[in-house]
Amino acid sequence: MYEICPETPADEYEVEALYDLCFAPGRTALSSYRLRDGVPKVAELCLVLRDPSNIVVAAIRFWPVRVGGHATLLLGPIAVHPTAQGEGLGGMLMRDSLARAASIGWGRVLLVGDAPYYSRFGFIKLPGVEMPPPTNPDRILGLELHPGAWVDVAGPVTRERSPNALAAMAHAETITPAEPCKEVAKPQDDEARPAIAGNSAADH
Ligand SMILES: CC(C)(COP(=O)(O)OP(=O)(O)OC[C@H]1O[C@@H](n2cnc3c(N)ncnc32)[C@H](O)[C@@H]1OP(=O)(O)O)[C@@H](O)C(=O)NCCC(=O)NCCS
Repeated sequence: MYEICPETPADEYEVEALYDLCFAPGRTALSSYRLRDGVPKVAELCLVLRDPSNIVVAAIRFWPVRVGGHATLLLGPIAVHPTAQGEGLGGMLMRDSLARAASIGWGRVLLVGDAPYYSRFGFIKLPGVEMPPPTNPDRILGLELHPGAWVDVAGPVTRERSPNALAAMAHAETITPAEPCKEVAKPQDDEARPAIAGNSAADH
């Protein structure tokens, strides 16, 4: 069985090594990283997926940001080990983390990435949202975890400066305890996807 767990400090080295493997050198120089500098991750949504040998084969992280002043989740980076790509693991981690995000009260999610990939999870272009330059506007995508969460939310994306972003959210009253580790079955072979080349699904 595979296991999905919230990332702990002990996982840091393996997760960073996975990201270094999957992304081009200098990934942390991207402008999206300036939104993360000095801001704590959303710990309960940063997940690692371990294979039956206890190796980290996939990881996803989230940070809080503001869009036009509204608390928003920034998704990414997400990466799956090159030897395990196209097997459905990335999709599994996306869906699991987004379900956890909804269950703890987040309403809207933002990412910068390939619409052809992220549209399968419900992400659509956000024409009124401005990431720090240089960012291709066609790659700025959003998902509503709560109906209407992106309505009238636009403007520049900025760092989260509030120590408690959740408290500022409209649906904070729905917060429930974070889900711990859980065992998951590997997606069935007949659901497996062919591996894809390149590493540009999302900026990170
Ligand atoms: C992008 C990534 C996370 C997807 O995870 P995965 O486990 O390989 O993907 P899944 O097996 O769940 O899904 C495979 C499907 O996604 C598609 N896909 C993957 N990357 C894509 C991309 N950049 N653009 C369009 N489609 C893409 C595949 O073609 C396949 O499509 P299909 O369902 O029509 O056959 C993984 O390939 C990866 O780590 N890539 C390198 C790092 C990266 O780009 N990360 C995202 C930036 S934050």
